[in-house]
Formats: sequence, structure tokens, C-alpha cells
Amino acid sequence: MILDGRQEGSVAQAAQVLASGGLVAFATETVYGLGADAGSDAAVAGIFQAKGRPSDHPLIVHVPDAAGAQRFAASIPAVAQRLMDNFWPGPLTLILPRRHGMGTAAAGGQDTIGLRCPAHPVAHALLLACAQAQPPVFGLAAPSANRFGRVSPTTAAHVESEFGAALLVLDGGATPVGIESAIVDCTRGVPVLLRPGTLTRTELEAACGERLWLPEERTDAAPRASGTLESHYAPDAKVRLMDGKSLQTALDVLGPDASAIAVYARSALRTRSKHYRRMPDDAVATARQLFAVLRDFDAAGVRLIWVETPPDTPDWEGVRDRLRRAAAA
Ligand code: TXA
Ligand code: MG
Repeated sequence: MILDGRQEGSVAQAAQVLASGGLVAFATETVYGLGADAGSDAAVAGIFQAKGRPSDHPLIVHVPDAAGAQRFAASIPAVAQRLMDNFWPGPLTLILPRRHGMGTAAAGGQDTIGLRCPAHPVAHALLLACAQAQPPVFGLAAPSANRFGRVSPTTAAHVESEFGAALLVLDGGATPVGIESAIVDCTRGVPVLLRPGTLTRTELEAACGERLWLPEERTDAAPRASGTLESHYAPDAKVRLMDGKSLQTALDVLGPDASAIAVYARSALRTRSKHYRRMPDDAVATARQLFAVLRDFDAAGVRLIWVETPPDTPDWEGVRDRLRRAAAA
């Protein structure tokens, strides 16, 4: 059931479902989340079951403000504090040492916890209503509201197509960011960028006052993170990445046979594809539409999606990452 998340009554109803151990999907600025009370291991188990996600894959816990993070974190390292001061609320998740006994199931048994304070008004209103519910809910464990391994949802309709009409979805419109939050691990001595988002490496490093490391450089005790699996975020169709020139050559070679192949490219191409979408020139606009474009191609029944490789600049890192994973499936 899709409810308008901008209405107080819908938010109150959703908070009540969450306070009684149920699941609610809700809009955030990145993608829709499938939420449950992070303080209830039974409620969190419902998320793993609904998604078909292995229960040792940790989930992000959403909190209404930085103070809320202190409930779940054992400590806030200095670099995490700087990132929170600069980017919360916003599309940034921080991995922090977990407070003993807090968010155990959400953390998938790890001694760290992923925390995020979302900026979307619907997510924010829901988190505030949850804190005031009976019994109060102080954090929402919420992975992206899609079944395991699939493209994250950026509209309420996407969520409904994943889980059916029985699930309560708090609609906040199409999500403005469009790809998942950047994740910075602050528990390894140096900050590690586990997943790029739309906040650029350059912006994050400026706030940290030091460089961000790559996960490969700090493999010590690297936890399982499904967002970091090679073949994640995959549509049903097979995705192939090519530079603009190779893409044009391949289309020319196929000629009329290319009509059934979907094409998503920044360059103006000569193609007879019936599914040709222009990729915007800037990374922010591309991130906003990327997952909806992939879902549209799937809905149109295409088997192959040819995508022009985005530029190799910091602003495109998040989009490049999602496309690379989609192509690895
Ligand atoms: O934008 C987002 O982050 C969205 C919205 C709903 O907030 N959420 C999201 O959640 O993308 P999910 O569960 O699909 O991806 C969470 C990622 C996974 O790769 C997970 O393994 C990682 O965060 N993660 C969560 N807790 C972690 C932890 N303690 N250590 C390492 N990675 C963690
Ligand atoms: Mg996900």
C-alpha cells in the first residue's frame, strides 16, 4: 500500500507499524529503504527474510540526527565527527565501532555498525515520529528496498513491484540523488571509502583532512558488504560498458540487428535501437535517473543494454561503480 509520506497521518501510521515490529518502506534522498526497528532483532530478521539477503550481511541503521548515532556507536572517531559535521543529514553512511548490545542483528553480528542520517523530509519525519512512538524506535535498520542483488528502487512504484501491495510504502516522490549513499569506514585507523556515492572523493577528503583509502588497501578484517559484491545492482538484461567509439562501431556492425539492443550513451550515436536513451552530461543528473533507466529497459523486455563508459573523473565515481557492478553480473 502506497501512502503519501508528506501527510502526518501516513507518517504516524508507518511509525506505529514499525513500533509494533513490522516493516515499512520509505523514501530517502538516495533510494527507498526497507525499514524495521533496529532495536528489535526479530523485526530486523523480517528484513533479511523479505529481501532474501543472507543474515550476515550488515544493514545501515538510520538515525534522526548526530545525537542518535551515539546510541548505536561505542565511540565517534575524530574523522567520523568531521564527516558528520560536514555531510549530515545527507547521503553518507559511516561505519563506526558498535555499542555493545545495540543493533546486533542489523550489524549482522559485526562489532561495527553502519549509521546514516538521511536528509529527505519523509525519512526525517518518519525517524522523528518513531522516536516518539510507543514503544519508541530510535533507529531504523534499512537496506535498499529491493530483493537481494537487484537494482535499488528510486520510486514507490519500484518498491511495490519488488514486494507487492501488502507492504506499506511511504511515498516521497522520485528520490533526488538516485544511487545509494557513499560509505566511509571509520574503524580501520584510516578512512576507507567502501562504496562511492554522489559526494565526491575530493569533497570527502577535504572534510576528512586526509586521503580516503581503497578497500583493497585495507583488507584487514574486511566485512561482508553486499553493496561491495562484484555483481550487485544488476538488471535482468545483460549490461555491457564500452567507450563511445566502440559503441558506435558495434552498432554499425550490427546494423538493423541492433534495433532490439538498449543503448544508454552521452555521445550522439547513429543507431536504429528502439531503446536509445541519452545519458546526461553531468554525473548528478545521471545518478538521479540511472536505476529508473535500467528498470525501464527491463520492463521493455530488452536482453542487452549497451552503456557508454562514463568519464574517469571524481564526480562520476559513484555512477561508474554501479555500472561496473551491473556489467559484472
Ligand atoms: O543510500 C543508502 O545507503 C540506502 C538508503 C536506504 O539509506 N541504503 C542502502 O543499504 O544502500 P544496503 O543495505 O542496500 O547497503 C548497505 C551497505 C551494504 O554494502 C552493507 O554491507 C554495508 O552497507 N554495511 C552496513 N553495515 C556495515 C558494517 N558494519 N560494515 C561494513 N559494511 C556495512
Ligand atoms: Mg542494496
